[in-house]
Parts: sequence; structure tokens; C-alpha cells
Amino acid sequence: MTRQHYEAVGIHPPISSVAEIIRMAHLVWSEDLNTGIDVIDAQHRQIVGFINQLDDARSKGDRKLVKDVLDGLIDYTVAHFSFEETLMEDVGYAYLRPHQKVHEQFVRRVSDMRDQFERGEEVVDALHSLLHRWLFNHIRHDDDSYAKTVKGRMQKLLEDRQQGGWLSRTVSRFFRR
Ligand SMILES: [Fe+2]
Ligand SMILES: [Fe+2]
Repeated sequence: MTRQHYEAVGIHPPISSVAEIIRMAHLVWSEDLNTGIDVIDAQHRQIVGFINQLDDARSKGDRKLVKDVLDGLIDYTVAHFSFEETLMEDVGYAYLRPHQKVHEQFVRRVSDMRDQFERGEEVVDALHSLLHRWLFNHIRHDDDSYAKTVKGRMQKLLEDRQQGGWLSRTVSRFFRR
């Protein structure tokens, strides 16, 4: 019986190999990926969800799940990237432009993969490794870098808030207590 046969009758299929155990193991969020800005970290965790969904899609051979990830990623990038870029702009982050370019490149790659998927091509492995690299390169390094600037500004914000300054008005949109 195939995995689909077992699942169709609601029975978990027997595990046939170590490789299968590894394939089935879901990725979990690692604390060292936290930027320390809760709202950003919550958004970043969604990437782990997409990676796990792709693992499920791969093991079940389910194209609908791949489509859901691609659609979800398009929405994610629109919302998350504009959020990050506004935040970086508000705190005057020096590397805003290069960071935006990396975002634009990612959006282009996801959109290319969606086109490939719609042409009936296989994209799961490429998309999976793109998201993996995104998590461990962009989120861990690039996002961590601007988050440090934001947190540094937060210190100033505390002083600024008492005086009702510009920083308080902009950044506090994202950090309501
Ligand atoms: Fe991010
Ligand atoms: Fe980013």
C-alpha cells in the first residue's frame, strides 16, 4: 500500500526508513532566529510554516498544497516586506535600499516559480531550498542587522516619547504598549 492508501483510511503509514523519518520531521523555529522584535518574529515564523507545508506537499504528492504555499508567499511578501521597509525608513536605517533590493529579488523569484508551477513544472525542491536559504541567510543576518538599529532607536524613543518628538510619532505606530 502507498502512503495515500493508508491515509485514505485514516491510518498512519509505517515508517520504512531513516530517510523517511528525516523527511517527516518538521522544521521548528530556532530561538537564534529571533530579532527581538516580537511583531517581526511572529511574521518570520510563517516561513517555517511554509517550509513544513512544502514537506507535506512533497511527501503526499499534493499539488494543491504547493499552490497554497505559493499564494501564501505572495501575500506574505507584500505584507511583511512593506512592514519592514516602513520600519527601516522610519528609523533611518542606512542599508534600506540594498535590503529593499534583496526583497525585490525574492519577490521576482517567487513569482517566477509560480509561473513555472502554473506551466505544470516541478518547483517544490527549488522553492523549499529558496525558503531555507531565506530563513538562514536573510532573516538571520540581514533582518537581524536592521532590527539592531531599530532596537537602538527604541532606547532613544523612550527619551523622545516624553518630549513628543518625531521618532515617537512614527515608531510607536508599530510598538503600542
Ligand atoms: Fe523579514
Ligand atoms: Fe527583510
